[in-house]
Amino acid sequence: MTDQTVTAASADFVAKQRKYLAPGVATYYDTPIVMSHGAGCYLYASDGTKYLDFFGGILTVSVGHAHPRVNRAVIDQIQKLTHVSTLYVTTPMVELAQRLAEITPGDLAVSFFTSSGTEANETAIAMARMATGAYEVVALRHSYSGRSALAATLTGQAGWRLGMHGTPGVVHAMNAYCYRCPFGKTPDRCGLECAKDMEETLRTSTSGRVAAVIAEPIQGVGGFITPPDAYFQEIAETVRKYGGLFIADEVQTGFGRTGRAFGIEHSGVQPDLMTFAKGLANGHPIGATIATPAVAAAYTKPTISTFGGNPVSMRAALTTLDVIAEENLTENARVQGQRLREGLEELQRRYPMIGDVRGKGLMQGMEFVRADKEPAPDLVAKFAEYTRQNGLLIGKGGLYGNTVRIAPAMNVSAAQVQEALEQMAEALARMTAEEPELARLSAD
Ligand SMILES: Cc1ncc(COP(=O)(O)O)c(C=O)c1O
Repeated sequence: MTDQTVTAASADFVAKQRKYLAPGVATYYDTPIVMSHGAGCYLYASDGTKYLDFFGGILTVSVGHAHPRVNRAVIDQIQKLTHVSTLYVTTPMVELAQRLAEITPGDLAVSFFTSSGTEANETAIAMARMATGAYEVVALRHSYSGRSALAATLTGQAGWRLGMHGTPGVVHAMNAYCYRCPFGKTPDRCGLECAKDMEETLRTSTSGRVAAVIAEPIQGVGGFITPPDAYFQEIAETVRKYGGLFIADEVQTGFGRTGRAFGIEHSGVQPDLMTFAKGLANGHPIGATIATPAVAAAYTKPTISTFGGNPVSMRAALTTLDVIAEENLTENARVQGQRLREGLEELQRRYPMIGDVRGKGLMQGMEFVRADKEPAPDLVAKFAEYTRQNGLLIGKGGLYGNTVRIAPAMNVSAAQVQEALEQMAEALARMTAEEPELARLSAD
């Protein structure tokens, strides 16, 4: 096939996608990429273009595309047993539950498996409600919890609420969005007013008795908003004072991504429940909720998730966790994350359109602004187009659509980080050449 026929075939698939998939299934880029295959940190489009992937399937491909060990484990498992449901004991499910109990902090020990982060969060809230006998839940502004009625209600961003349905009993407290402090503070004058808002919210917007607070250690879809560690200590303490549990949504931050095993570990808080999905099985569908035995003990009513505990996903997860441990990838995420962060901060010094750089480990965000911190989603769109043209894929996000999200596979190399930084620098230089005012934005 010539390149031209491949490109025509790609255009045909884009047209068919638009015809046969719901319009809400939005794709990136002016001309969407039809993806063919991947290997490690690289993706290959059906027109033959090679891309350095710095968004990893939205933080799912934690050990790289088509990892040979994960693939081998999946193929072996499929040839043995694909699915029988949880009506029978299957060894991969029990082994994964045991492994999660061993590697998660504190007393977390009892798991329930599903197929997505949405279901993991639904399960966590149900467990918290059954364990406490209370109903109300506090979520955070700018959060993202998933797409079910409850999870969309927990989500603190209008753009991600499906609109037609909301569930009662959910209120939102302030998040720690330091770059745009909701209390107008600067870091030197910060008194953790956002964390104090948790108590205010509990006292003014709930009955005073709640089931839980749910929080992401770094708000992913929210634009990698990274609260100070003390924020979590304070909100966990507050919710417990009101009888509630602390749920850490580790769907994006879990399993080494932030340079520690779990995102919440940076704060020293021991959650009562944790939820996982995305990177746990390197791209295979999975959701997991882990609770302390005391919390899980209340979850006795018969319940089934048909594909939860599926042996193929379980085996993929076990092998992904093996790879992360044996190849020391949590440490690599810390080291390469630091390298990436330093490079991004250097770009920020050169280009004032980058208002903020934030994140931990290999979860780094850049917020694009114009004068006086005005959110600039148009600049993010242009940056994404230009980096794509340079062969680099990045993510977008944030309530205002003005944050670039960068999260390569955790076995990314120093050379690949360098390559990505150069591709980003080139895009920024091009944007500045086209719009010279971008070099003269006011600092605040
Ligand atoms: C923090 C967080 N929680 C939950 C979810 C929902 O996961 P899923 O899309 O697998 O249902 C997401 C998805 O982006 C997420 O980022």
